[in-house]
Amino acid sequence: MNHLYRNSVRSVTTILALACAFSATAAPDAFTSGALTTADASGWLRTFTPTGTIDTSNPFFQSLGTNGRSCNSCHRQAQGWTITPAELQQRFDTTQGKDPIFRTNDGSVSPFADVSTLAARRKAYAMLLNRGLIRVGLPIPANAEFSLTAVDDPYHYASAAELSLFRRPLPATNLGFLTTVMWDGRETAAPFKPPMDAGVASADLDASLASQAKDAVLGHAQGAAAPSDAVLAQIVAFESGLSTAQIRDDNAGFLNDDDAIGGPRVLANLRFHVGINDALGADPTGAAFDPSAMHLFDAWATQHGNGRSERARAAIQRGENLFNTVPIAITGVAGLNDVIGQPTIQGHCSTCHDTPNVGNHSVGAPLDIGLTDASRRTPDMPLYTLTNNQTGASVQTTDPGRALLTGKWADIGKFKGAILRGLAARAPYFHNGSAATLMDVVNFYDTRFNIGLDAQQKQDLAAFLAAL
Ligand code: HEC
Ligand code: HEC
Repeated sequence: MNHLYRNSVRSVTTILALACAFSATAAPDAFTSGALTTADASGWLRTFTPTGTIDTSNPFFQSLGTNGRSCNSCHRQAQGWTITPAELQQRFDTTQGKDPIFRTNDGSVSPFADVSTLAARRKAYAMLLNRGLIRVGLPIPANAEFSLTAVDDPYHYASAAELSLFRRPLPATNLGFLTTVMWDGRETAAPFKPPMDAGVASADLDASLASQAKDAVLGHAQGAAAPSDAVLAQIVAFESGLSTAQIRDDNAGFLNDDDAIGGPRVLANLRFHVGINDALGADPTGAAFDPSAMHLFDAWATQHGNGRSERARAAIQRGENLFNTVPIAITGVAGLNDVIGQPTIQGHCSTCHDTPNVGNHSVGAPLDIGLTDASRRTPDMPLYTLTNNQTGASVQTTDPGRALLTGKWADIGKFKGAILRGLAARAPYFHNGSAATLMDVVNFYDTRFNIGLDAQQKQDLAAFLAAL
């Protein structure tokens, strides 16, 4: 029995002990156990920190505004440092919908939603409870190349002054790999300059995260004043020290066993710089793009036995191989096809998810993969009609994304390619939570790009994603 296994057993015992302690004291929003290893949908999630503990005395866990919320209201270790519908439903039930996350400024479907009774609150917070979505309110910018010409908001609130954009909290972990902050990049202080190594502080990244934390206190927590620079620096230091990944799979066992390199410890020490392995040749080292961006489970290619864990390991390794190699004819992706003037790019998952063993886009390059199209709109989402001021052309979208920052017609529907680690603990996926499971993610891509994956390939890809 190796050292890592013993650690995990101890951590899980700690969680159980703490869970019991907390059920007795359960104060709203007091989930501050500091557990490093927690159970999730398909195994165990683990967070690695330089100190070996989660410092729950950090202001990240404190109410710094006026509505009782902390960063930890929406960013929790056990949910991959975001939130999930299942945990939110529990929080709703134990507090009758009064936990500080349930606030009308951005937790409800509209700031005017009725929250006077339990039944009303269940309706008001439906987007949180069903999909883990927060309402981000942003205006059409003054200089925009387009106008908002129609709004179909089921909650009768959105207007050009404030569109309601229902978005997933991004994980507040693995931040050293970020090339842009927020789904639309709006907290990116300045384009991050290469080279930038994880663990080596980047002034641009730190400034972006400090600005993000300040705006979170003023916005999400309805702060009366911005926190001091010292408090912001403490928050940034705390979250920047977090590395999170799946460490154990229920079927395959430990994801760092037999020379595989899954889990957060390896992740914490990965080399990284902005532009690393970029598919369009932007790697500042001049290195050519290698579509085999994922190498966590290479060592399992030789698992041929028929035991449960051997079969599961072989499936994960096949899934990794598919991620790196399955041919995808990438068409109609604004930010990619139009930028290089190729209507079809013969690529792979890794063309966009190019950061080795992390999976985010290694350059800040917002893309529109079609998630906000009217054809994929569900009735619980607002739908906006935008009209181009020059050409008179119109598009319908559930979220203009990057275009609300730049005002550019070409940026409508663009979002960043997110980090793909610690996925199993934090369904649903995509900025709008439209994929309830990892299989739904795989099915989205199979349909969107006509990949032609068979049932086995889909299962293998989903098994690989769950092991990240
Ligand atoms: C009410 C819920 C809520 C609270 C409270 C909250 N966040 Fe967030 N956080 C979000 C949402 C939603 C997003 C994504 C929004 C977007 O991109 O438009 C986000 C994004 C982030 C990101 C960006 C990560 C990335 O990949 O770009 C960081 C970092 C972050 N939050 C840290 C914090 C910190 C620090 C605090 C406390 C000061 C905090 N959050 C409080 C909901 C919340
Ligand atoms: C054309 C570029 C592109 C390709 C190809 C691509 N992705 Fe993505 N991926 C993105 C972008 C952009 C996002 C974020 C989209 C959003 O939420 O608006 C994303 C998001 C995801 C997410 C959700 C992450 C989260 O935090 O919710 C997963 C999982 C994922 N992709 C897996 C894959 C897999 C598996 C493949 C191959 C079958 C693939 N991607 C191919 C660009 C791409």
